Amino acid sequence: MAETARLDGSAAGIARAAALLRDGELVSFPTETVYGLGADATNETAVARIFVVKGRPRFNPLIVHLPDVAAVQAVALLEGDALRLADAFWPGPLTLVLPRREAGGLSRLVSAGLPSVAVRVPDHALARRLLAETGRPVAAPSANPSGRISPTEADHVLAGLGGRIAAVVDGGPCTVGVESTIVGFAPDPVLLRPGGLPVEAIEACLGAPLAVQAEGGPVTAPGQLASHYAPRASVRLNVVAPGPDERLLGFGAVDGVGLNLSPSGDLVEAAANLFHHLHALDIAGEAPIAVSPIPDHGLGRAINDRLRRAAAPHR
Ligand code: TXA
Ligand code: MG
Repeated sequence: MAETARLDGSAAGIARAAALLRDGELVSFPTETVYGLGADATNETAVARIFVVKGRPRFNPLIVHLPDVAAVQAVALLEGDALRLADAFWPGPLTLVLPRREAGGLSRLVSAGLPSVAVRVPDHALARRLLAETGRPVAAPSANPSGRISPTEADHVLAGLGGRIAAVVDGGPCTVGVESTIVGFAPDPVLLRPGGLPVEAIEACLGAPLAVQAEGGPVTAPGQLASHYAPRASVRLNVVAPGPDERLLGFGAVDGVGLNLSPSGDLVEAAANLFHHLHALDIAGEAPIAVSPIPDHGLGRAINDRLRRAAAPHR
């Protein structure tokens, strides 16, 4: 393929990106969480191309992005607790796994053959303008080669996938910085992946604790591979005193050579910096990375989930 076009958020840029998506091309676009690798979710060939370009080892189901609740209703059954969560948190970093509506015209591959579909309404002006203008549901995993760090800037996307996709819409850095929280229904709500929306906020909305899906439970989130988000260097977690050869990924007031997710100990700032700092340490070399302890509440749960995957032995 020719060079990947970098488009801006002007009317012309969004119109071009929407036309490419309708033509079955792959276009990366910013969301509040991470950059997505978008394809027309009604076009089986375009969806299949996502797996090829990412080098995904198998057909994990993908998240379908829509501009508003009405568009979600056309492809999935949204009611009860799911509707309550949608009303409270969309647009925002929450994905709901819902029963598919067959009349919605979604590709089979987007659900990897499951009777369910994962949907979300992103809270990002460029993403929503692009979705509205495309006029189709858009499937989008994170725009990184499979198993690598998720992109939070257009430059990350180009470094990983440049020359292999038609375009990237450059919307600057993502504000949330970790992927959406995923909730399924079995039929009661279950947490499938911690993410950008804190579990505590979901529990407050439901007025009940949220069950956590054990691996291999009733609702499958097959994309949750152990070794994911992996830099090339080894990663050691919960390190209070880094070794002399280690570079520190710090949190709070700590000393060491490296980068700090949030010197003031703010979990929101840390989430926004997480993949940026991992990318930067990854580019800087092969020296092992030592990570400060991160509190396991609020966005800390999503950060720790991603860090455990970064630290898992590589495939
Ligand atoms: O923030 C995000 O969610 C980003 C941005 C681009 O929106 N997208 C993203 O997509 O993280 P991806 O493909 O990397 O993650 C999809 C996750 C996988 O863990 C997959 O297993 C789960 O969603 N999933 C998708 N459809 C599912 C379904 N029908 N049932 C259960 N899990 C599903
Ligand atoms: Mg991903």
